[in-house]
Amino acid sequence: MHKIITLDEFIIQAQRKNPYSTGELSSLLRDIGLAAKIISREVNKAGLVDIVGQAGQENASGEVVQKLDVLADNLMISCLQNSGECCGIASEENDHFVPINSTHSKNAKYVVLFDPLDGSSNIDVNVSIGTIFAIYRRTSTGPVQLKDFIQSGVNQVAAGYVVYGSSTMLVYSTGDGVHGFTLDPSIGEFCLSHENIRIPEKGKIYSVNQGNYPAFDEDIKAYVNYCMEQSHSLRYIGSMVSDVHRTLIKGGIFFYPATTKAPEGKLRLIYECNPMSFLIEQAGGKSSNGTERIMELKAEKLHQRTPIFLGNKEMVETVEAFIREHRTVEG
Ligand code: AHG
Ligand code: MN
Ligand code: MN
Repeated sequence: MHKIITLDEFIIQAQRKNPYSTGELSSLLRDIGLAAKIISREVNKAGLVDIVGQAGQENASGEVVQKLDVLADNLMISCLQNSGECCGIASEENDHFVPINSTHSKNAKYVVLFDPLDGSSNIDVNVSIGTIFAIYRRTSTGPVQLKDFIQSGVNQVAAGYVVYGSSTMLVYSTGDGVHGFTLDPSIGEFCLSHENIRIPEKGKIYSVNQGNYPAFDEDIKAYVNYCMEQSHSLRYIGSMVSDVHRTLIKGGIFFYPATTKAPEGKLRLIYECNPMSFLIEQAGGKSSNGTERIMELKAEKLHQRTPIFLGNKEMVETVEAFIREHRTVEG
């Protein structure tokens, strides 16, 4: 039997390799792993009880039913509040950031930003969904401030996602490669299954909501036509975590461009695009808004959106060329 390396063991081994590490980030990653296991349990039973129902209804045991994204949000918040290594959180589900002022957290050095449940539209049809997180060192002193949460993506200390699919996987990076762990529910452990994931150099899959084609700019329409002429396969699941996970493993390009309906794009810079860009770059890929590196974009607001094109370098650079040529012609 192969030696099972659990997430906890892997994190501790990585910490030992880094003489300057003090264990706080390791502890925070383990806390996020715990939240992921609990959310996975709730996602997996969602079809069985009223949990999938609308928030506010009462279930058989008289509890107020929480929608999965509300439940996931509360679980992430409570795990991080108890961590002691996180002094503030910002969630896609909450308008404002939440300081964690308890005595054992207020002096912690990290803030965590997350999308507690990504791909919510897929919940009721049992299609894979996920959780996305990003970890930054706080830059302020005293009570956390907005500037701690709207740092540019290059300042990320770690980022990752959990995909609740045919199996539950946690994929993360602390800047030393991308590593994937598959949950073994029989022992309740995330076990190392994909060490040092590298995105394939070549890709033949393009992933976009082609239903938005009429609302795309001419350069994006030209690129989609190019993908079809190249007989690339179109794969679009509709949850970013699943589409990015497939792109990481099989190669290709995932993009959510600006449309006439969403001129800034739909996906959120700090909760979705920065963490996914960190992982894609760590795996040897590229991620831009069509002209600039996503992780260098300036965040002005918590819920800021951006167009995004991510995947293997060659395909991202092709669409960037379409955009560049189009802008030159347009003048
Ligand atoms: P969320 O469920 O967190 O709001 O995210 C949904 C996002 C993302 O997961 C996915 O890539 C995108 O919405 C799909 O949008 P369309 O349905 O417009 O294609
Ligand atoms: Mn999302
Ligand atoms: Mn979400």
